This record gives sequence, structure tokens and C-alpha cells, in this order.
Amino acid sequence: MATRFEMPSKDRDVPGERERCATGIEGLDHVLNGGIPRGNTVLVAGSVGTGKTSICIEFLVHGALEAENSLYLSVTEPTTKLLKNVIPFDFFEDKLIKQGRLNFVDLPQLYEKLGIEKAAFDFDEVKLLVDTIASLVEERDIQRFVLDSVTSVNYRLKDHELIRDFLLKLSTVLSGKGCTSLLVSEIGMTGEHVQGSVEQAIADGVIVTGNLERRGDLLRTLQVVKMRGTSHSRAKYVLDLTTSGVLLVPLLKGGSVAGGG
Ligand SMILES: Nc1ncnc2c1ncn2[C@@H]1O[C@H](COP(=O)(O)OP(=O)(O)OP(=O)(O)O)[C@@H](O)[C@H]1O
Ligand SMILES: [Mg+2]
Repeated sequence: MATRFEMPSKDRDVPGERERCATGIEGLDHVLNGGIPRGNTVLVAGSVGTGKTSICIEFLVHGALEAENSLYLSVTEPTTKLLKNVIPFDFFEDKLIKQGRLNFVDLPQLYEKLGIEKAAFDFDEVKLLVDTIASLVEERDIQRFVLDSVTSVNYRLKDHELIRDFLLKLSTVLSGKGCTSLLVSEIGMTGEHVQGSVEQAIADGVIVTGNLERRGDLLRTLQVVKMRGTSHSRAKYVLDLTTSGVLLVPLLKGGSVAGGG
């Protein structure tokens, strides 16, 4: 069972505070005091199978349901395969795609269109890629953007300077258009890579997903490590993936999970 979180009421918004982009994941919005500050570029970093894609999909579908146009740019999976992952969610509505609220685009297809199918990109190709993403966001009036994953793009950028250039260009363009973005970052099982990575330093926010062994069971966990523009808890939560969405359960000290896990 999930623990219910009391959501901050709009009436209690502090004047001058950044407008929020509610993720629709109740527990995460609670941790973030209402949601991600609008325009932030947030890294969702975690090892394999820890729920990164599920978090991103829920964020986009929630936006689409609130009449915000959402775009999922997939690098690793063709969009047809991705749709199969979205359909089982209770909150998913087919009409969101037909209405153009929820958009899925395949990055390898984009590369092909742009004629940049090389294994390694240079500065010009990085610029071309960012410009193409920017025009997609502009044309479709996208307010929520997901890149799954930024790690797969970074493989083509052979040095740190290019990765830095790509991330800076991308986050500047996206926030300039008022778009709130999640960039998926794949990290090793031990999680050491996220510490001090270029991605982490540039991003406005870092959400880390991971694994935790408890009584012979492998639990998924989530922690907000950084989020510019809001105060937030840095506590570790247990992440539960269900067909009604991603649930966060506080992880209590002493080995038990609140709400019965
Ligand atoms: N709604 C759901 N209910 C139960 N299990 C789920 C649900 N959604 C996903 N899962 C399981 O959780 C796994 C991980 O979810 P998800 O794909 O979101 O993680 P990920 O971190 O993006 O994984 P990857 O590293 O493969 O990209 C899936 O492979 C699937 O088996
Ligand atoms: Mg994934």
C-alpha cells in the first residue's frame, strides 16, 4: 500500500516562487513541494531496470492529460515498441496520441533524415541535432520533453567537451522555450558514475533511481539529489511500479518500509 502524501495547495504558493510542473507522481510532487520548477532540465539517472522510463512516461502522460503537449524522444527503442509499454497504464488514453498531445519520436529515424548516421558526431552535428530538437519542440508547442537516453547520444560524442556542449545547448534551448525536460542517464550498478559527471553538474536537477537489497528482495529506490528552484527532501524512497503508475513509499530507518511495502 502506498502512503498518501498531502499535496501543497495552490493557495499556499509563496509569491515569487517558480511555477511548478507537476509530474503526476504524487510522492515525487510532494518531495518537490508541488513539482519540478518549470523550465528545469532534470537528469533521471539510474542503473538498468530501476524505473527511469516509467517515471518519464508518467510525467508526459500526466502533462498530456492536463492539455500540455509532450514529446518522448527515444534513442534505444523504436516508438512502436515503446507504445506497448505505455498502453498497460490505467491512466493512458489513446486519444492523447491522436490529439497530438503525446508525441513519440525515434532518434535513429531523425539521424537518418539529417544524414548523420555516423558513429561519432562533431560540433556541427551536435548543433544540427539540437536545432532539430528545438524545431520539433517549437512546431509541436511542446511543454514537456523526455530524452531516453542522453547516455546513448553521449556515446557518439567522443569527448567531454562535446558532451558538455551538447547538454548546455540542449538545456538552454529547452528552458528558453519554457519546456520542462527529463534526460535519462544510464549509470552502472554501483552508481559511482553519477558522482561528478558532466551531466550532473549541468542539469538543474538530479533524480537518482537505484536498487536496494532488503531481506532477500531487490527494491527499487528513488532520491532527489538536486533540484534548482525549490527546496526538497533528499530522503531515499522505495519506488513501486504499478499499472496505476509510479508509487513512492518512504523508506524508514531500521529496515522496514512504511505502508507495508
Ligand atoms: N507498470 C508496471 N508494473 C509492474 N512492473 C513494471 C511496470 N512497468 C515496468 N515494470 C517493470 O520494471 C522494469 C523496469 O522499468 P523501466 O523500463 O521503467 O526501467 P528503466 O530504468 O527505464 O529500465 P532500462 O534500464 O531497461 O531502460 C521493466 O522492465 C518491467 O519489467
Ligand atoms: Mg528505460
